Amino acid sequence: MSPRTPESFVRETIRPLAAYGPPRDPAPVPLHLNESPYDLPEELKRELTERVLATDWSKYPIADGAALAQDLARAYGLGAASVLVGNGSNELLQLLLFSCLSPGDAVVIAQPSFSLYALQARALGADLREVPLRRGAEFHFDIPALVQAARGAKLVLIGSPNNPTGTTLATEDLRLLLDGTDCLVGVDEAYRDFSRQDFAPLLARNPRLVLFRTFSKALAAAALRCGCMLADSRLCAELRKVQLPYNLSAVTCLVARELIARPDLVTERAGLVQRERERVARGLTDLGMTVHPSGANFLLFEQEKRPPTELHAALFKHGVLIRNVSTAPDLSRALRVSIGAPAANDAFLAALRAET
Ligand SMILES: Cc1ncc(COP(=O)(O)O)c(C=O)c1O
Repeated sequence: MSPRTPESFVRETIRPLAAYGPPRDPAPVPLHLNESPYDLPEELKRELTERVLATDWSKYPIADGAALAQDLARAYGLGAASVLVGNGSNELLQLLLFSCLSPGDAVVIAQPSFSLYALQARALGADLREVPLRRGAEFHFDIPALVQAARGAKLVLIGSPNNPTGTTLATEDLRLLLDGTDCLVGVDEAYRDFSRQDFAPLLARNPRLVLFRTFSKALAAAALRCGCMLADSRLCAELRKVQLPYNLSAVTCLVARELIARPDLVTERAGLVQRERERVARGLTDLGMTVHPSGANFLLFEQEKRPPTELHAALFKHGVLIRNVSTAPDLSRALRVSIGAPAANDAFLAALRAET
């Protein structure tokens, strides 16, 4: 008998998947990962490093995660039992799916949206229902179609602002979605600071609403790997049962607590990004591109001059790396550019001018 190969033991639902992988090529002007262009102030980093040195690394961080959850709860006007913390918001999304989905359960997402939603749901054997965004001059969430698709589903999962289109969900539309469905409604608010969206006040009256937030974008701490989930305390209590003990490191908790105490850092940086976003949008329009309205720290643009894959490669030759999203349905002419610091944005616009 020939022995089974090790990979043959992996779930049938995982084997056909492609790994999540944004392009990793190093580039002098990296505008492909929607990171903050502005690092945290050096003085703050030094102060935090000193505090990390003063801690005892031999001990488990028993109470640190709970203390961070409490700080977040206070900042968002919630009870601490409604907050789960994790190594990035994606980890908490995975925890929600792992805890709630059985094979065959339906999950509704918008198309196009962040590729991780479909990847993680498919890995668990979910029946994925993809609802195209409505397309006019702008993209919109198709609320009646989402409600229809959610019949008998476990979860509707929306990104707002949505990656890669930048589309934001109006509060009224979220209310319609909650009223029209009887499943969990998850909203990934990773980019909310760039549009001042805040759905947390809706949590009190909507126990099926689940929000995901991150330190990776406006908080300028992607290296930290920290995020949170905000939801009804009864749902959080169930998820806590399977969350790994002491999941967040003492260092992560220490830094994250300091950042939450400094909302001025976010407001200032988000404001800079918003101003640059409008400037880059004008630059793109002047070059004849169609630019979609964005509530995030990136812009989706379309052009007819060159095939997007070719243009993407041409920009890379100038040292500018953006995201080629043109393989997604309905985005065959589209590219996505993150908003960087002014010099990076200028380099992008200059390279684009030279290549189109
Ligand atoms: C829609 C969306 N959600 C979440 C994240 C980041 O998640 P994390 O908090 O795990 O860094 C990203 C990163 O690009 C994203 O595009």
